[in-house]
Amino acid sequence: MTDKKIIAVVGATGAQGGGLAQAMLNEPTSGFAVRALTRKVGSDKAKELEKLGAEVVEADLDDVESLKRAFTGAYGAFLLTNFWEHFSPEKEFAQAKNMAQAAKQSHLQHVIWSTLEDTRGWVPLSDNRMPTLMGKYKVPHFDAKGEADHLFADAQIPTTWLLTSFYWENLIYFGAGPKKGPDGKLAITFPMGDKKLPGIAVEDIGKAAFAIFKKGKEFIGKTVAIAGEHLTGAQMAAALTKALGQEVRYNDVTPEVYRSFGFPGADDLGNMFQFKRDFQEAFCGPRDPSVARALNPSLQTFETWLAHNKSRIPLT
Ligand SMILES: NC(=O)c1ccc[n+]([C@@H]2O[C@H](COP(=O)([O-])OP(=O)(O)OC[C@H]3O[C@@H](n4cnc5c(N)ncnc54)[C@H](OP(=O)(O)O)[C@@H]3O)[C@@H](O)[C@H]2O)c1
Repeated sequence: MTDKKIIAVVGATGAQGGGLAQAMLNEPTSGFAVRALTRKVGSDKAKELEKLGAEVVEADLDDVESLKRAFTGAYGAFLLTNFWEHFSPEKEFAQAKNMAQAAKQSHLQHVIWSTLEDTRGWVPLSDNRMPTLMGKYKVPHFDAKGEADHLFADAQIPTTWLLTSFYWENLIYFGAGPKKGPDGKLAITFPMGDKKLPGIAVEDIGKAAFAIFKKGKEFIGKTVAIAGEHLTGAQMAAALTKALGQEVRYNDVTPEVYRSFGFPGADDLGNMFQFKRDFQEAFCGPRDPSVARALNPSLQTFETWLAHNKSRIPLT
C-alpha cells in the first residue's frame, strides 16, 4: 500500500489523461501516485504506463461499479469523457453522472472534471445563426460536458472544473493539419475569420492538471481555463510556414461551408468554430495564457510546440 496520494486518471491511455499520467510519473518524489484507468489493461499503452510505474486498473465509464472499485482508496481523480468515440452527448452526460456518483461514494478529496462550455448559454436553440444539432444541442461535444458541470457541485464533490482548448496535436491526429489545395499549395482551413483560436499542447493540459492537484484546496470549487496561446488562422499559417520551411496559407471558409464538409462531426465542429468566432471575448477571456503559465512555467507557445512536433504533422 502506498502512502502517496493516489490520483485515479480516466483517459490515462489517451491524450489529456496521458499527459497528466506522464507529468506525474516524471516526478516520482511528488507524493502523488498514478492509478491509470482503462478498459483494456492488456493494451500496449496500458503496459507502457505500468512499466513507467503506474498502477493500471480496469474500469469502464459505462459501469459505475467498476468506477467505484477504481476510485476506492484514491485521493483524487482526473475525469473526462470521449465524445469522439460514440458521438453521443447523452452518453457523455451519463458517463459524467457515473463518475460523480463513484467519486461521491469513494469520498474523493479532489476531482478535476475536464469540461467545456455549454454553448447554449450564449446561443439558445432559438438562435438560427447555427443549426440545432441532435434535437437539442448547438455544439454537442461541448454542451453535454457543460451540462454535466452541476452534477459535481450538486453532489458536493470537491471539484475543479478544467476548461481546455483546441489541441495543437489536432494538426497531427485529427485531420486539422495543412492540406494541398487544387493549386498544390498547402493550407489550413478554419471558419474563424480573423478571430483568435486558443490552442494548447496536450502535455501542457496534463502539467496544468497536475499542478492543480498539487495546489489542492486553492483550486477546489474553481473553474480554471487553460490555453498556451491565442492565434488567428493567419498567425497559425505564418508559424507553420516558418517551421515547415514551405508556404502554408490560411483558408478562411464560412461556418456553413465547414459544416458541409461531410466528415463525421463536421456540423458539430462547424458550430464550435462559429461559437469561438462569434463569442471571442467569452471564449478567449478566461483562457488567458497567464493562467496556464502560472500553473506550468514551461507552457509552450505554438512556435515552441512546432519546433518539437513539426515533423509529425502529415502534409497531405
Ligand atoms: N481534440 C481537441 O482539441 C479537444 C480539446 C478539448 C477537449 N477535447 C475533448 O477531449 C475528449 C477526449 O479526450 P482525449 O483527447 O484525451 O481522448 P483520447 O486521446 O481520444 O483517448 C480517449 C481516452 O478515454 C478513455 N475512455 C474512453 N471511453 C472510455 C470508457 N467507456 N471507459 C473508460 N475509459 C474510456 C480511453 O481509455 P481506453 O481506451 O484505454 O479504455 C482513452 O484513454 C473529448 O471528449 C473531446 O471533446 C478535445
